[in-house]
Amino acid sequence: MFDYLHEPPSTVTVFLDGKPLSVAADDTVAAALLTAGVTEFCSSPRHGSPRGPYCMIGNCYGCLVEIDGMPYRQACLTIVADGMRVRRMIGDEAHS
Ligand code: FES
Repeated sequence: MFDYLHEPPSTVTVFLDGKPLSVAADDTVAAALLTAGVTEFCSSPRHGSPRGPYCMIGNCYGCLVEIDGMPYRQACLTIVADGMRVRRMIGDEAHS
C-alpha cells in the first residue's frame, strides 16, 4: 500500500507484537507500520471493529497502540526509536 520514494538514509529496528521490523529512523510509528503493510492498529471500544490511522495529525485516535508498555499512545505523533516495542491494541485488551 505504502512504500518509500527513496531508500531511507538510516533505519532502526522496532518490534511489532514481538516481530522485528526495520523502519526509517525518522518515521512516525504509524508511517512505519503502514509501510510494513499493517493497517489494523486497535479496535473500536463499542463494537470491536478494526481501526487504523486516518488523519495522521493526532485528531482521530484511530492509531492507538501500546508503546514500550504505555497503552493508548498515538502512533501518528510518535517517532520510532531503536528497540521500541509496539503492541497493537486489538480485542478486549484495548478496552481495559
Ligand atoms: S491517525 Fe488520527 S490520531 Fe493518529
